[in-house]
Amino acid sequence: MYLFMEVYMIKYIGVFDNKIDLFEGQYIVKNGISYNSYLILDDKIVITDTVDINYYQEWLNNIKKELGNKLPDYLLISHMEPDHSASILKLIEIYPNITLILNNQALNMLKNFYPGVAFNNLLLVKDNDTLSLGNNTLKFLFAPMVHWPEVMFTYLEEEKILFSADAFGRFGKLDNEDNELDEYRRYYIGIVGKYGMQVTNALKKVSTYDIKKILPLHGPIVENDKLNLLLNEYTKWASYNTTNGVTIVYSSVYGGTKAAAEKLAKLFNKEYKIFDLARCDIHQAIAYAFEYKNLVIASMTYNNGLFPHTESFLHSLAERGYKNHHISIIENGTWGPQVNKLIKAYFENNLKDNLILNKSCKILSRLDDRSNKELEDIALEINND
Ligand SMILES: Cc1cc2nc3c(=O)[nH]c(=O)nc-3n(C[C@H](O)[C@H](O)[C@H](O)COP(=O)(O)O)c2cc1C
Ligand SMILES: [Fe+2]
Ligand SMILES: [Fe+2]
Repeated sequence: MYLFMEVYMIKYIGVFDNKIDLFEGQYIVKNGISYNSYLILDDKIVITDTVDINYYQEWLNNIKKELGNKLPDYLLISHMEPDHSASILKLIEIYPNITLILNNQALNMLKNFYPGVAFNNLLLVKDNDTLSLGNNTLKFLFAPMVHWPEVMFTYLEEEKILFSADAFGRFGKLDNEDNELDEYRRYYIGIVGKYGMQVTNALKKVSTYDIKKILPLHGPIVENDKLNLLLNEYTKWASYNTTNGVTIVYSSVYGGTKAAAEKLAKLFNKEYKIFDLARCDIHQAIAYAFEYKNLVIASMTYNNGLFPHTESFLHSLAERGYKNHHISIIENGTWGPQVNKLIKAYFENNLKDNLILNKSCKILSRLDDRSNKELEDIALEINND
């Protein structure tokens, strides 16, 4: 299966989940998601990671089909999140003598996930340890907090292949997709966004290795042009660098705030994306808010507070360590707009490392001459920023 994913001694045995509703309980994956697993065939045979529990039978069938009566020697455990670890016992039932390769942190988690189970065959590895499989060597490179503490990359030295755990993965099918970079970004900012420093450390560590292909736990193999592209994007995202552009997010019930947001968008001389926070894929809005330097937040006032979707969006930024951005605010209210004050307070308390720009816009129900002028001033300030 998936011929393009095969190197001569590496076979794809992963599965594709097209029934999942939300990945990690929140991310919309309308094109599904893969749980990637491989067989490394050398004098010793290694299985890399397992799959979600709903797909263990298909995965075991894939293994049997490739191995026939041969027995695998090792299961490499890169990450203990259940989308990759939930089928460990199913594998051990079939291959009781298989040895688990894992680090100490993963072992602690293994014991917690499977209370009372005795795991007899363990190969505990340390950072930079190597293991010869015969012709090929595995080198274990710990990548703590990308995005769990036990995460470990593995470099297959002779083939120059990096098994990268969840890093460099994406939602969706295993072949090329439209707007592919959007999906890589939505995955990265959503899942790993908070851990920029740790990702930077991991990137530094692997930069000394010659890498021909990256095999992540989700999505296609990363190779050729995409390899450099993604290494550059990851370096940028992990250091919270931005590109020139504007993200506009708005919350509007009766259309007044929406009209202002749309009007402002037309005044920009740079790239922009606009999102209705009640109706968009919120994680796409968050991902763009990280990508572009300027963020405009437009919100109606709701019971003296922020509209719930605006509040939840701000929380999602804070939770992911949002920084280095320039913020502009549009507020709307019929009798006492509160949004500007509340958003400023939120940034002061939770999102300090961003700059609120000087110009803002206050709307009393609908745009008028004064507030139209304020919109133009916001546009000017952002265009010159
Ligand atoms: C449930 C609800 C609560 C509101 N609470 C306030 C408020 O506390 N202060 C205020 O000035 N306006 C309040 N408003 C009015 C809206 O903020 C105002 O009508 C605004 O113009 C709506 O913008 P929109 O056309 O983009 O929906 C409230 C409106 C609704 C529907
Ligand atoms: Fe994970
Ligand atoms: Fe995962």
